[in-house]
Amino acid sequence: MKVGIIGLGYWGPNLVRNFLGNDKIKEVIGCDTKEARLKFIKARFPEVKTTNSVEELLKYNCDILAIATPVDTHYSIAKKALENNSHIWVEKPFTATSTQANELNELAEKKKLNIFVDHTFIYTGAVKKLKEIIDSGAIGKIIYFDSVRINLGLFQHDVNVLWDLAPHDLSIMDYIIPDNKVKAVCANGIANFYNHENVAHISVYFENNCFAHFHVNWTSPVKIRRTIIGGTKKMIVFDDMENSEKIKVYDSGVELIAKEKIREALVQYRIGDMYSPKVDQIEALALGVNEFINSIHEKRKPLTCGEDGLKVVKILEAADRSIKEKGKIIEIN
Ligand SMILES: NC(=O)c1ccc[n+]([C@@H]2O[C@H](COP(=O)([O-])OP(=O)(O)OC[C@H]3O[C@@H](n4cnc5c(N)ncnc54)[C@H](O)[C@@H]3O)[C@@H](O)[C@H]2O)c1
Repeated sequence: MKVGIIGLGYWGPNLVRNFLGNDKIKEVIGCDTKEARLKFIKARFPEVKTTNSVEELLKYNCDILAIATPVDTHYSIAKKALENNSHIWVEKPFTATSTQANELNELAEKKKLNIFVDHTFIYTGAVKKLKEIIDSGAIGKIIYFDSVRINLGLFQHDVNVLWDLAPHDLSIMDYIIPDNKVKAVCANGIANFYNHENVAHISVYFENNCFAHFHVNWTSPVKIRRTIIGGTKKMIVFDDMENSEKIKVYDSGVELIAKEKIREALVQYRIGDMYSPKVDQIEALALGVNEFINSIHEKRKPLTCGEDGLKVVKILEAADRSIKEKGKIIEIN
């Protein structure tokens, strides 16, 4: 297969390396409007052809076009790529609006082309292990998902901290609790430096009795990447800053012992053992590339497809609206 990679800034070179590393890929062409980025790629990967124009790249008729440009450019480039009959890989977040996401999904459906949305974390050993534990029923029903992703982060010029960092956690949430339909979102945040929020908190309400919260911040002095998942039987802590024990499963829980009068009801805590399962260390992007290529050969949707991208964009859009309306609850349909 022939792949074209558009956008060779911070993330694009990782795509170049991982597509080159896949034995089904015979040719990689890199595209960026900045000559300096093309030179950088040529120096690192001399076998990669380069061009500074998307129109030129389209003439190569690539089987796959991967888009790693800023979010506000995803839709127009993705549309051209689909119209040119290429399967597309789009970086997170999929698009800048849900209307754009819907349109791309419909176009891909009509043309029988695949859309892969790079929700990279879904391909990490840690998240695969989380999914395995939750699907086994070991932690019971999920009652909450509580995540923190904060550090002194790189300010993005086109999006706020929600659109930059929250797609990671929202996609993990969607993957591990897929049957819990999101009902509403509310969010708060502040833009201390320019017109994009640098700190934000999002709350997500589900149809059944489950709740999720996301705290993202580009201006924290410490780096924290931690998610706590509460279940009716057990609880999990996923700490991505840990090198070896990223996941800890606690045999802890809370029980309410009912009495006739509510004031006499007793809350009983159970504090049992903790174990930390082994997680795979294979690079997530390599697995993502493999999944995308296999999905094309097998004529099926990839694990992280356009519909998954749309679900995340809908929550981000609602969160933005909620912030503007001072934390108003926004229904999702
Ligand atoms: N999956 C992940 O974990 C992950 C990590 C980082 C970034 N990303 C995503 O990757 C995308 C890019 O982020 P980045 O940090 O690499 O941005 P960046 O600004 O470092 O790089 C973007 C590159 O795209 C080029 N570009 C812009 N418009 C173009 C066009 N029309 N044609 C050709 N080139 C064009 C720019 O010149 C620049 O070199 C974003 O969607 C971001 O959210 C994903």
